[in-house]
Amino acid sequence: MSPVPNLEWNDSLESGIIEIDIQHRNLFNIFKILKDSIENGKSSLIIRYIIEEVIRYGDYHMEAESEILKKYNIFSEKHEKEHTEFKKKVSGFKEKYVTTKDKILAREICDYLYAYVTNHIMKIDKEELNLLKEEFKRLGKEE
Ligand SMILES: [Fe+2]
Ligand SMILES: [Fe+2]
Repeated sequence: MSPVPNLEWNDSLESGIIEIDIQHRNLFNIFKILKDSIENGKSSLIIRYIIEEVIRYGDYHMEAESEILKKYNIFSEKHEKEHTEFKKKVSGFKEKYVTTKDKILAREICDYLYAYVTNHIMKIDKEELNLLKEEFKRLGKEE
């Protein structure tokens, strides 16, 4: 199996909206902890706990992100769909993992989370957070 790409946090992942960037960074760190734990052969109990943390923190972040975007009428239906898809997918992974404790599945979860960074955070999040930034500028609001 090919290794999970070694993504490092970099400027291209920043949106410029500080509270959201901090959350993205935290989420990114949880993904990394999961990746390291799988690579270091941690127990299925630990892997399960980290997957649960992805769910908890993912929920928290998506709630905060959608709330601020909604407040400025920027949050799109497409964005909402992608959040729903993420939650469904990760919970589905968790259910499966709890029953199978399958190592290949754990790797699949990792691959999915890394793809999520490039497909969601770097695209739709960035797009809409950029609009939010412009809106803040227009209103003379501190970020
Ligand atoms: Fe996000
Ligand atoms: Fe998002």
